[in-house]
Amino acid sequence: MDKIVEKNKNGLHGQIVIPSDKSISHRAVMMLSLAKGKSKINNFSKCADCNSTLNLFKNLGISYEYLSDDTLVLISSGKLHKSSVELDCGNSGTTMRLTSGILAGQTFDSVLIGDNVLSKRPMKRVIEPLSLMGANIESDNYTAPLKIHSSNLHGIDYSSKLASAQVKSCILLAGLFAEGITKYTEPYKSRNHTELMLEYLGASISNNENTTKIEKSVLEPKDINVVGDISSAAFFIAAGLIVPNSDIIIKNVGLNPTRTGLLDVVKMMNGNVEILDKRIISNEPVGDLRIKTSDLSACVISGDIIPRLIDELPIIAVLATQAKGTTVIKDAQDLRNKETDRIKAIVSELRKLHADIEETPDGFIINGKTVLNGDCELSSFKDHRMAMSLYVAGLICKHNIVIKDFDWVRISFPEFEKMMYSLNK
Ligand code: S3P
Repeated sequence: MDKIVEKNKNGLHGQIVIPSDKSISHRAVMMLSLAKGKSKINNFSKCADCNSTLNLFKNLGISYEYLSDDTLVLISSGKLHKSSVELDCGNSGTTMRLTSGILAGQTFDSVLIGDNVLSKRPMKRVIEPLSLMGANIESDNYTAPLKIHSSNLHGIDYSSKLASAQVKSCILLAGLFAEGITKYTEPYKSRNHTELMLEYLGASISNNENTTKIEKSVLEPKDINVVGDISSAAFFIAAGLIVPNSDIIIKNVGLNPTRTGLLDVVKMMNGNVEILDKRIISNEPVGDLRIKTSDLSACVISGDIIPRLIDELPIIAVLATQAKGTTVIKDAQDLRNKETDRIKAIVSELRKLHADIEETPDGFIINGKTVLNGDCELSSFKDHRMAMSLYVAGLICKHNIVIKDFDWVRISFPEFEKMMYSLNK
């Protein structure tokens, strides 16, 4: 579906409640599926990716019922069962990579499949460390389908070159089924929702800086309240900063420090974002944000902040087109392995709008502030975060833009456009 986006003339005003965090929703289903009994997930995500996880675990023997639109009751025997069908992860890398860790330690074989995009994404990053734990995984050149054979896992002491929460989570979840201690070290700290949730559900887990240790554990069923997704809020934070005459409040935003790199960047850019009412929900920090239109200045984004804002880099590129000076983004080469090559994609599409942006091997360089032109057709590359980043750019373009395949926003944020409309008053 193509989408026409018009320039916003009035500014954005009012408040929204940001929907459920995708990363935490996935993890809640996965971990509660391993906990014997009944548990409730409040504010479960309605996005397509999390639905893939839910269906997959249903095929592994758990049952669930929706009590309301976003409240889910999950019932598990504490043990997963062999699926009679191939397990479909859809477009979701998180589903495939985390579930492979859980399945590697089961007493039955499984096959994980994905859509065309996911089937091209690299899985060596999880197959290699899982194999060191004793897993037996067949694949075609380290891509899906992944045929995971039953095996007895043992702990490892693994240092990853990648700061990837998906790889870390895969190994920690496999560690739940492994003999001995599983120790995982990452170069920079990536999101730690898996560690926090494992601790919350009673696993034997400990963390020291970038190293996490886990031992074979039985998880307890508990209710989980999922906070709002800062990666979804990011599009509204950016829109509030760059659309003239805006003043908005975004409620219920997850503020786990391993996810808040964007807020640090906005501070460096002199953006006006205020954090209101900070609190803790199910072991995760959360707060409300007030955002006002701001005069932004350029900054350098590199090193250990990258995993803390990896999904926000396309929208940060849009922000940087409106910041005075040269913004440099480095050390983000893994952005090329997302739903699309997000470095190539954002550079090519923002150039069509007359932004001054240049591709580098591990990021991009943007000179601002430029007037974005519009009057052209842009590709989302069937990537939800590209689609929403371009939509925000469209709000400040001189002329209308058309975004191809905009409906891919359903992957993480089906409510996106409705929420944006609600602020346009
Ligand atoms: C995610 C981790 C990140 C992120 C993805 C979700 C997670 O991926 O890009 O959208 O839920 O663990 P990597 O671990 O590959 O960086």
